[in-house]
Amino acid sequence: MALAKTMERNGKKTPSQRVSEIVDKTQGSQAWNSIFRPGSVFRKGYTDSPRNRSYVVMNSVLYHLHPVKVKRHAVKVSYTLCLGGLSFFLFILLTITGIFLMFFYRPTAAQAWNDIYTLQTSVTFGLLVRNMHRWAAHLMVLTVFLHMARVFYHGAYKPPREFNWVIGVILLTLTLLLSFTGYLLPWDQLSLWAVTVGTNMMGYTPVFGDQVRFVLLGGKEIGTDTLLRWYVLHVLFVPFVTVIFLAIHFWRVRKDGGISGPL
Ligand code: HEM
Repeated sequence: MALAKTMERNGKKTPSQRVSEIVDKTQGSQAWNSIFRPGSVFRKGYTDSPRNRSYVVMNSVLYHLHPVKVKRHAVKVSYTLCLGGLSFFLFILLTITGIFLMFFYRPTAAQAWNDIYTLQTSVTFGLLVRNMHRWAAHLMVLTVFLHMARVFYHGAYKPPREFNWVIGVILLTLTLLLSFTGYLLPWDQLSLWAVTVGTNMMGYTPVFGDQVRFVLLGGKEIGTDTLLRWYVLHVLFVPFVTVIFLAIHFWRVRKDGGISGPL
């Protein structure tokens, strides 16, 4: 105490005063720190310094999904046209509208068509949500294809991104599979014949053709077993696998140093 008083009298700062000055500089003013103390929303205070900006991103559950630093060209809409982002947005929209449709749809040959009809005519927002699901599905095929074309045009498939290109090809296949399996579910003439033609073509697979066709149809010809099989593929299996590959895809974009640069 005596030392501190002597130092104050001589106009010098005590060691603890110097420490709190440093803390203020790195973590913001004491007023901010008393509000945003550890355990609060901004754990490292709110001073606008490069270090604190990084902490805000790293310490938040939602923000930490984003990289701390993003290259300037990567946020230019004209570079990616946001096509990958749009594909992902449509995937989320399809999931939400799809869950809504599941409340009103039963995958049996006797009920499927009637359920869709009732959904459109008697359920509040039924027609709207069904059309949103249909249009989003068509659009997603388009945006994924355009995204692939954009990636190709920028040469972004070259090292170090060749692995992510392969993941992308798998995602394209999964997107097409989601689209095709969903096509059967309304159980109308269009769906029945599209799937008959599709599975007949797969029947020409070398060596295992008959087995492949049998597995896909759940029997020798298209029927209620086929519908149940494709329903489970459409609402559960393919989306689940897609989510896994999307996670790998996004993780790779980060690991490969963010979006590729302009040529
Ligand atoms: C469900 C489908 C897909 C989704 C949701 C998706 C999503 C994304 C997103 C959000 C990005 C960040 C940059 C951007 O928006 O362009 C990206 C980058 C990338 N995607 Fe996809 N993608 C999909 C399919 C594909 C396909 C089909 C390919 C290629 C065959 C592909 C290859 C790549 C590559 C190589 C990158 C890095 C691009 C760069 O660094 O410039 N993706 N993807």
